Amino acid sequence: MSAVKRWLPPLIAVAIALALGGCNGQSPLSPHSPQAHDIATLWWWMLGVASIFLFGAIGLLTISWFRRQTPGLPLLGKREGANTALVISFGIVIPAFVLISLFAVSDFYVLGKTDQPASGASAMTIRVIGHQWFWEVRYPGTRAVTANEIHIPVRTPVGIVATTDDVIHSFWVPELNRKIDMIPDQRNRMLLYADRPGVYRGQCAEFCGLQHAHMAMRVFAQPRSGFHRWLRGSSKPARPPASPLAHRGERVFMSSQCASCHTIRGTSARGTVGPDLTHLASRTSLAADTIPNTAYWLRRWIRDPQAIKPGNKMPDLGVRWRKLAALVVYLRGLG
Ligand code: CUA
Repeated sequence: MSAVKRWLPPLIAVAIALALGGCNGQSPLSPHSPQAHDIATLWWWMLGVASIFLFGAIGLLTISWFRRQTPGLPLLGKREGANTALVISFGIVIPAFVLISLFAVSDFYVLGKTDQPASGASAMTIRVIGHQWFWEVRYPGTRAVTANEIHIPVRTPVGIVATTDDVIHSFWVPELNRKIDMIPDQRNRMLLYADRPGVYRGQCAEFCGLQHAHMAMRVFAQPRSGFHRWLRGSSKPARPPASPLAHRGERVFMSSQCASCHTIRGTSARGTVGPDLTHLASRTSLAADTIPNTAYWLRRWIRDPQAIKPGNKMPDLGVRWRKLAALVVYLRGLG
């Protein structure tokens, strides 16, 4: 057996481990809900069964290489019937049994548990709408609208109703549940549940254009009291500007193209092209988890959004330095 063949399986295993370790906070193998737990268990079973076949095949190949000068089969000799029996059992019967078992477990058991409809089974519903390239998040029954950050109460079944405003996207928070496609003119439902407080990263899982890779989100699972405080705060209209400079920034926002693409509740800005900015300063990232939400990055983003996320719908507005400074102060005050 060549060195390549001998070292390939362990190398692949190490590569997979490194790749999964690199997905920080986003591994389906560190489940934080009963649904994600079932998916992870199914994955380990599939890996186990596949490994038996992989190493079994490598073992048989090795034996046949050492016996390449010897006629007939080991133990069974040169019997025609034995050849046929081996082909039928290893080529048809065993694969059919394994594939049917895996299909049955994944389809009737795991999928059924992850697929619970939102109505009835859940305490509350959240609407998530896919856009190129951000996530719009609405809380029916309240005025709260946010983007790219989903707050949920911990240990509470939450129904997600997923739709899209343009092309097909796929909503996926690997540590909490499976993927769900967002398809035009269709409402897909899924259960979101987190068994402990924390931040869970999610990612668009269906290629949706140039910035598909920069379409991420964060799910914040909070204790109930903290969640309800957040929801009450997010339902309120925007805070009025607190300083003369912030006032100037508000005027810049309302008189420029900003207001025709973004909504800031409580003001005349009612655009629906980009994310709702009513409580922008309370979010942790900008541009769907592409850059951190700091004054520095906000300034860079407004100055040249196409440099940071080429192809996104935000144009270069050519805002000059002093106006830009006022705009950033205003937006940073939207807590
Ligand atoms: Cu949205 Cu990929």
